[in-house]
Amino acid sequence: MNESTVIDLRSDTKTLPSDLMRKAMAEAEVGDDVAGEDPTVNELEARAAEILGKEAALFVTSGTQGNLVSLLAHTQPGQKIILEQDAHIFHYERGGLARIAGLLAHPLPGHGAMDPADVEAAIWPQEVHRAPTGLIELENTHNRAGGSCLSVEQTEAICEVARRHRVPVHIDGARIFDAAVALEVPACQLAAPADSVTFCLSKSLGAPVGSLVCGSAEFIARAREFRKILGGGMRQVGIIAAAGLVALEHELPRLHEDHKKARQIAETLQELPGVYLDITTVQTNMVRFELHRDDMTAPDLCARLADYGINAIAQDAIRIRFVTHRDVSFADVERVCSALRTVLAPD
Ligand SMILES: Cc1ncc(COP(=O)(O)O)c(C=O)c1O
Repeated sequence: MNESTVIDLRSDTKTLPSDLMRKAMAEAEVGDDVAGEDPTVNELEARAAEILGKEAALFVTSGTQGNLVSLLAHTQPGQKIILEQDAHIFHYERGGLARIAGLLAHPLPGHGAMDPADVEAAIWPQEVHRAPTGLIELENTHNRAGGSCLSVEQTEAICEVARRHRVPVHIDGARIFDAAVALEVPACQLAAPADSVTFCLSKSLGAPVGSLVCGSAEFIARAREFRKILGGGMRQVGIIAAAGLVALEHELPRLHEDHKKARQIAETLQELPGVYLDITTVQTNMVRFELHRDDMTAPDLCARLADYGINAIAQDAIRIRFVTHRDVSFADVERVCSALRTVLAPD
C-alpha cells in the first residue's frame, strides 16, 4: 500500500464515533429505558420527533428494526406492502416483511421513485381473492438509486393516492437529512405527508449505533410494543443515545460537505475512459457508476484502489458505489481522484 491512512468509501456506516460523541457517551445520564426512565433517550426521542415534525419518536437498534416495527405497527399479517422494486426493505432486510410481519410484497418499477398512477393501480379493489393493501413504503434518499432524493411534491403525490385509499405510508428515511440538505427543505416537510418515518443515526450522521422511528403518539406506542417483542427493549441505552444527540447537533449541519465530496469524485470519474455515470443521480453522498472496459472489471478496479489505500467494493462485475462521509476529508477526496486518474487513465 502506498498510503498510510485508509480511505473507506464502502459506506457511511464505517464512520467511527467522534471525540465529542465519545465524551457525551461517557458522561450520559442514564436510566432504564424499558421503563421510560432514561433521560438521554427521552431527550433524543423528543428531539427526533421535533425535527421530523411528528408527535413522538422511538429509539431503535437499527434502520432494519425501525422499518420492521413500523411495518408491524401499521399492518396486519396477510396484507400487502407496495414498494419500489429497488427498495432497501425489499432487497436487504432479510425478508423480514414476509418472515416476521407476514406481508406480501408488491414491488413496482421506478429507479428511486414510483409513479403515483402505478401505486394507485396496485391498490387492488377489496375483494375476496386479493390481499388488501396494508402499507405503501417510500425510501428517501434511495440507496440503490445512488442516494437520489424524493422531493416534497413526489412524496405528496404518492401520499395523496394513499390517503384517498386510506392506506398508511411509511418512509424509510435512513438518510432523509441528506435529502433535506440536497433539496434545501426542512426534513419535516419531506416527512409531513407520510404517517411514519425511520431515520438512521449510524449512517451519514456518523453515530455508532441507532435509528429513530417517528410518527403519531398512538403509532409510536404500538411500535414500542413491537420493539419489545423483537428484543429491542434496551436498558441504560442513553449511553448510545448521547452520541445520537451529538450527531443531530454537530453532524447535520455538515452533511452538505459530504455531498460536495461525492460530486468532486463523480466529476473526476465522468472524464475517465470506460466510466458510465449519470451525474444527475449524484445528489447526496453516494456515487454509483459502471465500468465498461476490456482490461478491467469493477472488482479489478477496487483491487487496484486498495493499493492506494482506498477501500471500495464492487456490486457486481461492472457496478461500484462510493459513499462519502465524515471520515473522508477533502484531502482524501483529492487522493481518491488522483488514484482514479492514475488507474483508469495512465498516460
Ligand atoms: C435506505 C436504507 N434503509 C435501511 C437500512 C438499514 O439500516 P441498518 O443497517 O441500520 O439496519 C439501510 C442500510 O444501509 C439503508 O441504506
